[in-house]
Amino acid sequence: MARINDNYLKLAAGYLFPEIGRRVAAFQTDNPEVRLIRLGIGDVVLPLPKSIRRAMHRAVDELGTEKHFHGYGPEQGYGFLREAIAENDFRARSVDVDADEVFVSDGSKCDSGNIQEIFHVDAVVAVPDPVYPVYVDTNVMAGRTGQPDRHGRYEGIVYLPCTKENGFLPAPPTREVDLVYLCFPNNPTGTVAGRDALAGWVDYAKRSGAILLFDAAYEAYITQDGIPHSIFEIPGAREVAIEFRSFSKNAGFTGTRCAYVVIPKELTGRAADASATSIHKLWNRRHTTKFNGASYPVQAGAAAAYTDQGKREIRERVDYYLANAAIIRAGLIDLGLAVYGGINAPYVWVETPDGMGSWEFFDKLLNQAHVVGTPGAGFGSCGEGFFRLSAFGKREAVEEAIERIRTRL
Ligand code: MLT
Repeated sequence: MARINDNYLKLAAGYLFPEIGRRVAAFQTDNPEVRLIRLGIGDVVLPLPKSIRRAMHRAVDELGTEKHFHGYGPEQGYGFLREAIAENDFRARSVDVDADEVFVSDGSKCDSGNIQEIFHVDAVVAVPDPVYPVYVDTNVMAGRTGQPDRHGRYEGIVYLPCTKENGFLPAPPTREVDLVYLCFPNNPTGTVAGRDALAGWVDYAKRSGAILLFDAAYEAYITQDGIPHSIFEIPGAREVAIEFRSFSKNAGFTGTRCAYVVIPKELTGRAADASATSIHKLWNRRHTTKFNGASYPVQAGAAAAYTDQGKREIRERVDYYLANAAIIRAGLIDLGLAVYGGINAPYVWVETPDGMGSWEFFDKLLNQAHVVGTPGAGFGSCGEGFFRLSAFGKREAVEEAIERIRTRL
């Protein structure tokens, strides 16, 4: 028998969302007549913007001609898209990012899951708690942890508690670590970090030699002024940070898949002989070995996100989901619940009533209101006693979900 990677056996039974899917499918089998409202996984529901669809169609048609057909593209992404990203997402905000520091991919889940590969197996990893499970699980798979304790916390990982007392903002650890995962606007709590908080992280990274892995997949949802949209808005961040961005939650690419990573050329890590090594070069090596590029039609569609029409259509979608979040927030606050997030993020984070456990609340919501959400405990032990509702739903469904919660719980 072939020897397996035993690290996989340390993982909790299932990845959070398939586990929710399993429970929901079981419920639906037993109750086929029930119409569930799904506000669990953060999957968009509005159709792809017209400008993006048009660009994708055009790209497919080009590929159908002798003259414009091409096969493999550049692994790092087509120049037209990398340039549009650098110009619109960064330089337009006076943030210094070059097109060749942008690596286009087929999703932020892959990028934020794969990045750990270029770091040593003994690298110490810090994660906020609660956290997007991909950051933790991929480090477990890589062998960077021991077994989980009874709270599901893995030996070897440094957990940074995010509680209502600290406004769900993790504080830098008191010890040195190699890698810190941060996500703002935050999944799952919907919190944002202001300039001072991010400057504190950059300062910590500079002092301790850590690298910040900054997930900004929900950047488009920042509505309030003064909140940084990129870690690179913070002076000095280019020497200590990597940023992940996605077209999923703004332009609706959860199904079509396109994202990117920004790795500044200044960023270095330490080799065995203590010499400084370019992270950009390492990632380039990894990316070009393991990935053949996102498809041309998808990249052409992503580039259309930066046209005037594309920007308008994306804004409409983001505003629609934010209006859903406002409805969810208002409805839950009306019920006397403590509610967080949902202002600069598509996620509403709610404290479960009467100290109920997260999974218990999940079951109650599923069985009584026929609404699917995400139990906070699925994101980490500090998520226990909390519950996440996603604003990615059709308006009527969101309104009905709130009405059902109001009348059936
Ligand atoms: C979530 O619901 O947390 C997200 O949809 C997960 C993801 O983007 O992979």
